[in-house]
Amino acid sequence: MLKISASLLSADFCRLGSDIESVGNADRLHFDVMDGVFVPNISIGVPVLESVRAFTDIPIEAHLMIAEPSRYTETFAKAGADIVIFHVEADSPGNTVKSLEALRALGKKAGLSLRPKTQPETLLPYLDTLDIILVMTVEPGFGGQKFMRDQLQKIEFFRAAIDARGLTCDLAVDGGITLETAGMAAAAGADVLIAGNDIFSSQDRQERIMALRLPFFWKKER
Ligand code: DX5
Ligand code: ZN
Repeated sequence: MLKISASLLSADFCRLGSDIESVGNADRLHFDVMDGVFVPNISIGVPVLESVRAFTDIPIEAHLMIAEPSRYTETFAKAGADIVIFHVEADSPGNTVKSLEALRALGKKAGLSLRPKTQPETLLPYLDTLDIILVMTVEPGFGGQKFMRDQLQKIEFFRAAIDARGLTCDLAVDGGITLETAGMAAAAGADVLIAGNDIFSSQDRQERIMALRLPFFWKKER
């Protein structure tokens, strides 16, 4: 079954506690950090993460869309993220390796993400050391954008690479996930789907999360 990560970027930050409760059956909470440099938007940071950590036991994955993320990977881990994902384009290879090692030394899961225009081969040198690969299916920066179907090939590429090496690494897809695109991403080999707008704009968010876990079944039944 697919794992569903609810992206808090689409929550109402004035009602963050009740919004987190409304997605209480999610496998993970996705916490988007943006710095206005790596992406053209600024979102939430360490103090909000600490509050969310104190509020819920749901595993939290921090997605750092910031320049030179190695400056902050350990900070977000210590603030309560269980999984820290940062961008391969955003730092030097040396700093990237050091951050991945530091996260694992803290007992955290570590992941790398890549923008839609970044070639998948860029991630191959790190593959054996990753707990999660996050494929962006929108340009990072904003929720509610349209899924880029031309990224399906990239998902297939990573599925094949993970299986060929016998790795247990998660393959996550972030951006524009709906019931329809969930089916496409899963068929291409994704095993974690990150969804913001689709979940938070649903009347019954928990039912939507269940539907996203089994996109093929729900498409047939409804
Ligand atoms: C975009 C963020 C995504 C975003 C997904 O830069 O990384 O996590 O919240 O939102 P939806 O599901 O609305 O595309
Ligand atoms: Zn994200």
